[in-house]
Amino acid sequence: MAETFILRGNICYSESPRSLAVTEKGYLVCIEGRSAGVWKSLPEQYAGLPVTDYKDSLIVPGLVDLHLHAPQYTFRGMGMDLELLDWLNTRTFPEEAKYEDLEYAGKAYNIFAESMKKSATTRACIFATLHREATALLMDLMEDTGLVTMVGKVNMDRNCPDYLREESPERSAQETRAWLDGIAGRYRNTKPILTPRFIPTCSDELMRKLKEIQEEYRLPVQSHLSENKGEIAWVKELCPWAGYYGGAYDGFGLFGGEVKTIMAHCVWPEEAEKERMKEQGVYIAHCPQSNTNLSSGIAPVREYLDKGMNIGLGTDVAGGVGESIFRAMADAIQVSKLRWRLADETKKPLSVEEAFYLGTKGGGSFFGNVGSFEEGYELDAVVIDDRALKSPLPLSVRERLERIIYLSDERHIRAKYVAGARVFDMADDMSPAD
Ligand code: GUN
Ligand code: FE
Repeated sequence: MAETFILRGNICYSESPRSLAVTEKGYLVCIEGRSAGVWKSLPEQYAGLPVTDYKDSLIVPGLVDLHLHAPQYTFRGMGMDLELLDWLNTRTFPEEAKYEDLEYAGKAYNIFAESMKKSATTRACIFATLHREATALLMDLMEDTGLVTMVGKVNMDRNCPDYLREESPERSAQETRAWLDGIAGRYRNTKPILTPRFIPTCSDELMRKLKEIQEEYRLPVQSHLSENKGEIAWVKELCPWAGYYGGAYDGFGLFGGEVKTIMAHCVWPEEAEKERMKEQGVYIAHCPQSNTNLSSGIAPVREYLDKGMNIGLGTDVAGGVGESIFRAMADAIQVSKLRWRLADETKKPLSVEEAFYLGTKGGGSFFGNVGSFEEGYELDAVVIDDRALKSPLPLSVRERLERIIYLSDERHIRAKYVAGARVFDMADDMSPAD
């Protein structure tokens, strides 16, 4: 049930990429699951509402992960001395094949869901595997977390090992429909998203069928784009008609416009590709840690921001080692500094404000009015009690937020709310004597 209440604390949220609003000891008013605004002193009209006073803690919008792979959580932090295509063949595909076994899937996805619940993330777009039943199981578990997520059964029918390939485009489409029909009406917070893995593993015929499904079920789409140079060259061979990589999605009507679309990575975009993405409002999931671990490169995020394109952050577990979007913010800043120094000194690195925007309001807009505390935004909030991060310095709230981003230590999360519903509050777990 969406609720009506007030949270008190040091409230920080993005208004725009460059503007961070900070209200010390402020009041964040939630009316039926949405923000009614932030005040330094409480307006009379809200005087009777229940207040949870988080004292000197920070209150920030819930973080948004636009791209991660739930089945890959098992091997996070391992086996990354490889580039994308070798990594997929040696680490990823053998692991994903295990999710045919529902018992294994249950064990693995329970661990994943538990970690996501504890994290600072309130919204996520998640790849499962090609297995319909395990994907439904993941959706059941994500629903139990209280997070709002979009989860995709992966489609892949070519250029992958026999043990992890749908045998034909027809079969892949059939399984997708069976999955969608099986989960229809089952969840409040968990939505399906169409998930062709990437062009190398999806035949033209499959893409045509996925477009039909997309139209029939009115689904958004998530996939990968222009991540790795070898991958891009391969797509040119597979789809010579496409002009550029993104054209291979666009040719099937699965590249933004009416179809809400997230493309992960976009490290090596061509000019025409960038223009088309902007025109179509395609969302970029910037995954800096994955792009570093898999030696993919550094995405031109400054340019994406300057052009006003839709962009947010992704952890891309297990290209990235963990689920922290604070860490993704720090990584985004750090790789942007390297890009500035090593590749293009005319493109300034990202600021803390910009990285925070990407991980909240930037990605949040994929879900609607999400990722800020401006009036009317769905109230996703994370309360951070950073008292254990001791310092003799008199730190400002802005400095404390910067430190939380760089330290990326999510052990200090005290409470989490999604669309006005409380996911947890550590105080709930304490006995009255505490
Ligand atoms: N491209 C296709 N599949 C994958 C995947 O699992 N991870 C990443 N990073 N890129 C991909
Ligand atoms: Fe990925």
